[in-house]
Amino acid sequence: DAEETLKPRPPVVTIMGHVDHGKTSLLDALRGTDVVRGEAGGITQHMGAYQIKTKNGDLVTFLDTPGHAAFTQMRMRGANVTDLVVLVVAADDGIMPQTIEAINHTKAAGVPMIVAINKIDKPEANPQRVRERLLEHEVVVEAMSGDVQDVEVSAKTGAGLDELIEKILLQAEFMELKANPDRDAEATVIEAKLDKGKGPLATVLVKRGTLRVGDIFVVGTQSGRVRAMLDDKGRQVKEAPPALPVEVLGIGGVPMAGDLLSVVESEQRAREVSGYRQEQATAKRTATAPA
Ligand code: GTP
Ligand code: NA
Ligand code: MG
Repeated sequence: DAEETLKPRPPVVTIMGHVDHGKTSLLDALRGTDVVRGEAGGITQHMGAYQIKTKNGDLVTFLDTPGHAAFTQMRMRGANVTDLVVLVVAADDGIMPQTIEAINHTKAAGVPMIVAINKIDKPEANPQRVRERLLEHEVVVEAMSGDVQDVEVSAKTGAGLDELIEKILLQAEFMELKANPDRDAEATVIEAKLDKGKGPLATVLVKRGTLRVGDIFVVGTQSGRVRAMLDDKGRQVKEAPPALPVEVLGIGGVPMAGDLLSVVESEQRAREVSGYRQEQATAKRTATAPA
């Protein structure tokens, strides 16, 4: 709609890289949290979505993806909803299979990349070797006369984290990211599950508009009305503007990651749309089922 008024919105940054290269630790250091300690085996198994406020008051939304080989789908999804990828490479371990895969997802998504060379506190760290090996995958960082930003960091000591944030903000400023907050919301499902106490839950990332408690919506083949929303610290929020990740309660069933949530004008409309989509899904299943 050409009449829409677009306003600046925070960047959505996906953290990708090989297993145990320190993606979640970097986010923990940036957020002042300790998510890694709560993970079974220290392995990220779902997409975390967080928004941080920088010292200067700028907002940045981060998506954390697992490095484990089994989670290709999630990394792909991350690359698709993101404005910018931070590729984390451990300076001791170097370029590994999921590093290469993350590079490929980023290229396929056509989004800019910033390389965070992590664990530079370790005696075995060899950041120059990382830069050289990246060349083999056509990622040419500034120090190698390319245009990909790179920064040496340590999630352990906090070294380089301010510089990483600065580079993210600079890149985001350059992209002039905007969205209209004054319309019915559209949001992407990052992940969804059935919670024993709360019922169907979905973590969504608002693309445009503002999602509000009480809004009626369709999401995939499901519909519902926003009963409550929680931010990444578990606090209730009444409104979710563009780029804010929130957990939504009040969905009729569990949607699928990647589904689009759209606010509609009435419960009748929500039932119509979700009913139609359910029929379509059933027809598709019947058509492809073996005789
Ligand atoms: P997955 O989600 O399982 O792919 O791993 P990840 O990339 O999120 O790595 P994670 O944050 O779980 O860190 C893996 C291990 O590396 C942990 O034991 C961290 O404490 C350690 N680690 C992370 N960053 C650093 C760092 O900068 N320096 C050192 N010395 N250790 C680090
Ligand atoms: Na890990
Ligand atoms: Mg992790």
